[in-house]
Amino acid sequence: MTTTLLTGIAELVTNDPSAGDGSPLGLLRDAAVVVDGERVAWIGPASRAPGADHRRDLGGRAVIPGFVDSHAHLVFAGDRAAEFAARMEGIPYDGGGIATTVAATRAAGDDDLRALLRARVAEMRAQGTTTVEIKSGYGLTVADEVRALRLAREVTEETTYLGAHVVPAGAARDEYVRLVTGDMLTACAPYARWIDVFCEPASPHAFDGEEARAVLVAGQAAGLGLRVHGNQLSAGPGVRLAVELGAASVDHCTHLTNADVDALADGATVATLLPGVEFSTRSPYPDARRLLDAGVTVALATDCNPGSCYTSSMPLVVALAVREMRMTPAEALWAATAGGASALRRDDIGVLAPGRRADLTVLDAPTYLHLAYRPGVPIARALDWSVRH
Ligand code: NIG
Ligand code: FE
Repeated sequence: MTTTLLTGIAELVTNDPSAGDGSPLGLLRDAAVVVDGERVAWIGPASRAPGADHRRDLGGRAVIPGFVDSHAHLVFAGDRAAEFAARMEGIPYDGGGIATTVAATRAAGDDDLRALLRARVAEMRAQGTTTVEIKSGYGLTVADEVRALRLAREVTEETTYLGAHVVPAGAARDEYVRLVTGDMLTACAPYARWIDVFCEPASPHAFDGEEARAVLVAGQAAGLGLRVHGNQLSAGPGVRLAVELGAASVDHCTHLTNADVDALADGATVATLLPGVEFSTRSPYPDARRLLDAGVTVALATDCNPGSCYTSSMPLVVALAVREMRMTPAEALWAATAGGASALRRDDIGVLAPGRRADLTVLDAPTYLHLAYRPGVPIARALDWSVRH
């Protein structure tokens, strides 16, 4: 392995409280980092930097751990711009448009779908995301779900089987749940790390608590980790089911009862908030302060998908979390990096420390505060290692 010394780091966010200023972000000023292969080898003040094979000067920029986008739906064809326009005129979101994307995705060839997927991942990297979780869920047949997961596997380890996205047009609910928990699960499990279900009794297209439980229990028996889309449109059973079954994360959490918040506070399930969805569906934002004040671990992710939120931008999500959900800039950055890592049960990413992955995002700014302070300005990008030797 060759080593590279990165200098010219005006502010380094490590998310390691034992480093730097002792805050949760573990901030260091005038820092340097030594990278050895794919791992961090050394972090400290530039004045004490050791030698290395190569040297790169980042010109007084801020460096943060790469964003961990723990919730995205990137394997799809077509778009739903017309649905978005109709929504802005008052038609509420209920998941019914998913059928449109399912039809377009089934009709797309493998190479076209692969090209769309890779372009979306590249778009994310160009905005600072270094890890992305990718769900199936726009196939909804055994062959189409397997195809989505095989393609997703080409670009990430974090693949999620979401056969239980909606009941497809023309299918009987009980028969479809049997397929999702039977032959489709058997075929998909080899390509997936996780199983997910859209648990939402308020949507006629999604799954109720008992159906969601059946999906999750079957997935767990097949060796998959659990994730849940819960409490997006109503205070349904998703959050409590996720905590009861030990899911890594329950995502959306827009409508919560006190019992839901208590369950999250007492459990080991991360609450992943997706404020791009509330922005794009013009809905009330989740109450992030209530969760944080109760001691719940909060993550932020994009939910990038063609229906409820077609953004790939973690900086936008951070800005929304700060402006609209009253998270502090520090809480929002932590949730978009270490929080995402926690939602994926990963300890090699989300934190910059010796031995962890060298997933670095550089900001064209002197401090991470600019992420929310300069909304819509493309200041974040994953460090391009193509010039590393
Ligand atoms: O997380 N809630 C379900 N799934 C996506 C939306 C998918 C779509 O509308 O295409 C979500 O918001
Ligand atoms: Fe989603």
